[in-house]
Amino acid sequence: MTTAHPAAVVVLAAGAGTRMRSAMPKVLHPLAGRTILGHALAAAGGLTPSRTAVVVRHERDLVSAEAISCTPDVMIVDQDDVPGTGRAVQCALSSLDAAAQAAAAADAAEAGSDLTDSVGVDGAIVVLAGDIPLLNTETLAELLAEHHSGGNAVTVLTTNVLDATGYGRIVRDPASGDVVGIVEHRDASPEQLAISEINSSIYVFEATSLRDALTHLDTHNAQGEVYLTDVLEIARSTGGRVRAVRTPDPMLVEGVNDRAQLAVLRAELNRRTLDRHMRAGVTIIDPAATWIDVDVDIAPDVTIAPGTQLHGATTIATGAIIGPETTLTDCEVGEHAQVVRTHGSLSVIGSHATVGPFTYLRPGTRLGTDGKIGAFVEVKNASLGEGAKVPHLSYVGDATVGEHTNIGAGTIFVNYDGVSKHHTSVGAFVRTGANNMLVAPITIGDGAYTGAGSVIRKDVPAGNLGVSSGPQRNISGWVQRRRSGTDSAAAAAMAQQAEPGSGAVLSAQARLERESGAALRSAADGASAPTPVTPASTGSATSAQDATPYEGDSAR
Ligand code: UD1
Ligand code: CA
Repeated sequence: MTTAHPAAVVVLAAGAGTRMRSAMPKVLHPLAGRTILGHALAAAGGLTPSRTAVVVRHERDLVSAEAISCTPDVMIVDQDDVPGTGRAVQCALSSLDAAAQAAAAADAAEAGSDLTDSVGVDGAIVVLAGDIPLLNTETLAELLAEHHSGGNAVTVLTTNVLDATGYGRIVRDPASGDVVGIVEHRDASPEQLAISEINSSIYVFEATSLRDALTHLDTHNAQGEVYLTDVLEIARSTGGRVRAVRTPDPMLVEGVNDRAQLAVLRAELNRRTLDRHMRAGVTIIDPAATWIDVDVDIAPDVTIAPGTQLHGATTIATGAIIGPETTLTDCEVGEHAQVVRTHGSLSVIGSHATVGPFTYLRPGTRLGTDGKIGAFVEVKNASLGEGAKVPHLSYVGDATVGEHTNIGAGTIFVNYDGVSKHHTSVGAFVRTGANNMLVAPITIGDGAYTGAGSVIRKDVPAGNLGVSSGPQRNISGWVQRRRSGTDSAAAAAMAQQAEPGSGAVLSAQARLERESGAALRSAADGASAPTPVTPASTGSATSAQDATPYEGDSAR
């Protein structure tokens, strides 16, 4: 819908929102990826008004900061001690007028004059409460279009509700049906209380009429406040045309007053968001168990499995399968990627890549096309090239991993020396052994290998095998000497008496069970491991020496 841009939008956000029972101002509570105020400002911003003003008072610094982060050129207006929505708009209009006069004076000065006849802002002013999260630009644009086409002084958005408790009622002339005014719940007569059409607190005012009517407001009402709603009756009495646009969708204009209402509106907004995606070609297996923020972008033919939450600026490309049980915040997922039981933020997952299950992607993770980050892996600030794999039980932090490299199971990128973080660079087509410690800063060249269980502290040049573990030593008779009297010692003794070979070991197990019962079975299992018992004993249990070559290496 095309419509003239309004001269200004005024968002009312000075109230405390006491029914939230929160240390945080009501309008800063989040739903679907924005604050309540953020939703109002997004809806307003869609109209591309010349100016946007937010009226603040309660926790003004916090509310202002949020308004500025949503709409950087927003005008912050402080409401004074006088309470009421009418007062809030009086404060806003005097700021808007002052800004318009200053702009007119600047224009005049540029044209070589010091005279302007500007009384302030001119044209349509949209006013809305800051606590209406489902409001959208389309609805505001329709209201604005009605306002212009009717040549109205005031156009108010209304709706019919089942329970109008607390709302201002729209009073119409019984004969003509014209809106004659709004009466607040607490000021309403019994007949007026029966009216089900309510004021949404969303209006368009013609600046001149508003400026005039605001000078006539008083506080003669049950709350002793300056009511904005009185503007309608005043504008009408001075010859202005006052009209209502009634939306058939009450949720669209419902305000948040407490956390129960917030939950209802959050669920409704989510339901609408999911519906939009499903109609655009996204498969959502279980809409009741899926939460998607309003700014998430999802291509057709994406499948979302149950228990998935997509937050922030997340984008999902076509053919991807997300979930079950996956939470992604500000992530980019490529075509046909699969992300299962994963918790990720600020990460990029390449096309055809696979992630999960039970995977933690921290900010700065970049996984290339066809890559894999598997089970029980945590990745942070690391780029993994095309086809690179970290399949199992690893931590990859502050690293670059080249294409088609495989990181062995249980590898830790040791990025932190207790003071600073350091980078690890692993080349392309590298094969690291299982259970490595890669102690940063370190570089492993293209095509290199590392031995299982290595602690890699020095660079491994391209094509080298890096190994830090020494040859294995078996200390003969150690269990008999140092653990005599244990089940292990008994099992070992029986294994040594038996003929060598696996059959004999099994018979030792059988004898153990006969003699000692099932309680010893687990000890016997341990003894059944194919551990060669060598006669030679060094008598020393000292660990490997770094310089000792890996046996596979010396064989070459
Ligand atoms: C207001 C309307 C009522 C309407 C209802 C819809 C008035 C007098 N009444 O009542 O007709 O049906 O909204 O939800 O306008 N605010 C300020 N400064 C103030 C007071 C309020 O900026 O001094 C802001 C609040 O932060 C809030 C909005 O104005 O965003 C509405 O205020 P609230 O107190 O919730 O008004 P209601 O009593 O609900
Ligand atoms: Ca309210």
